[in-house]
Amino acid sequence: MPTRDVAVLVGSLRKDSFNRRLANSLQPLAPASLALSLVDIGSLPLYNADLEANVPAPWAAFRERIRKADAYLFVTPEYNRSVPGVLKNAIDVGSRPSGQSSWAGGKAGAVISVSLGMIGGFGANHHLRQSLVFLNILPLQQPEAYVGGAEKLFEGDSLVNPTTREFFGKYLQAFADFIERLAPR
Ligand code: FNR
Repeated sequence: MPTRDVAVLVGSLRKDSFNRRLANSLQPLAPASLALSLVDIGSLPLYNADLEANVPAPWAAFRERIRKADAYLFVTPEYNRSVPGVLKNAIDVGSRPSGQSSWAGGKAGAVISVSLGMIGGFGANHHLRQSLVFLNILPLQQPEAYVGGAEKLFEGDSLVNPTTREFFGKYLQAFADFIERLAPR
């Protein structure tokens, strides 16, 4: 089975981010058909249509990276029951200029939210899905991934909680199956 290039976007810039730690723990749990790679979103200038006249280099590189991906995996905290600004900015940068969205093509997406709270970032997870509808990114529906109590799941950078590891093994298999269903090769 050919490898699928999955662009992973993490909605936290924090060095010790639980979302980043989770994102970095996923590749060994994934089926061999998925190649996960984190995409930098922290260096993207804030979206301003005036900059389209002389596109900033980080925007151009990001748009190209998004365009060539086979699928998207969003791993995000919840900020004030919504999507962190840094992730929303990346979504907006990728979506422009109008009619030339880098997200286009009806590709598969998946949303994982990670929080210290017990709601597991549900608000951010579903707010993000609202943008995915407009971008024509088809989100994996089941299983859903709302990770609460994040501080209990890691030892250092390693995801050690066995239940969570088992869950994400199944989750990534479901995502791989979904990608194949949407775009069989
Ligand atoms: C938060 N946090 C938070 N948590 C939550 O469950 N629901 C929320 O609405 C918010 N709101 C919120 C706003 C802002 C501005 C910050 C900085 C934080 C807490 C958040 O989940 C916690 O800081 C996580 O550790 C952030 O994820 P990373 O950075 O560890 O990946």
